[in-house]
Amino acid sequence: MSFQKQLTIAIDGYSSCGKSTLAKAMANELNYTFVDSGAMYRGVALYCLRNGLIVNAIPNVSEIENHLPNIQLDFYYNPETRIQELLLNNENVEQEIRTPEVAAVVSQIATLRSVRVKLVEEQQKIGENGGIVMDGRDIGSVVFPDAEVKLFVTANPDVRAMRRFKELSEKGIITTFEDTKRNLLERDEIDSNRIESPLVQTADAIVLDNSQLTQEEQLQIALFHVQSKSRELAEKQLDC
Ligand code: DC
Repeated sequence: MSFQKQLTIAIDGYSSCGKSTLAKAMANELNYTFVDSGAMYRGVALYCLRNGLIVNAIPNVSEIENHLPNIQLDFYYNPETRIQELLLNNENVEQEIRTPEVAAVVSQIATLRSVRVKLVEEQQKIGENGGIVMDGRDIGSVVFPDAEVKLFVTANPDVRAMRRFKELSEKGIITTFEDTKRNLLERDEIDSNRIESPLVQTADAIVLDNSQLTQEEQLQIALFHVQSKSRELAEKQLDC
């Protein structure tokens, strides 16, 4: 029995727990669109850094609001890297948004209501026809509360910090394991306790702790949940 409707898949969870890797792999398998919503917050943070809108790590909220209409974000699928790369006002900033400088301020930017309103609207537009796997912090709670499949991904903080540290080292970015872990825990704290759309595990989300799982094992578990949901929806359709 197959269910033809293109589903909406929401993946939320803490920083550096492999959400984007999982989302990308699922989108590949299902032939869906993959969207890394964190990249969009990073794009706004980069714009703010470049334009002097963050001073001593404090965002100038009213100036940021004035600049928001000038910030255009798009994704470009690079067939060579097979990655959706972020364009900020038509400039490819995929590398720059991953630097520790951006990581250090992005959580502050993501607390701002005006920024969230703009990005959530754009995310909902991208996903309006389904067939999408989007990862972030508020995807199952705010962006797509009616998503057919919601996954809440988590992993032990040391495992996450080590994965992130290796990733940064491989990119030639110099940092220490301790600094990486500190930044990650700080981001978790801000993301979970902010007033605007904090990271929450919704009641209908499936928890996936990948501390002890390989990427392939995690992918197979996630696809199993998608197949179960598709079967359930197909059965409901037959009953109607
Ligand atoms: O997933 P990431 O580390 O690239 O996200 C960067 C920051 O943006 C992080 O502090 C959480 C925030 N974010 C958010 O608040 N809502 C989202 N949907 C995605 C990311």
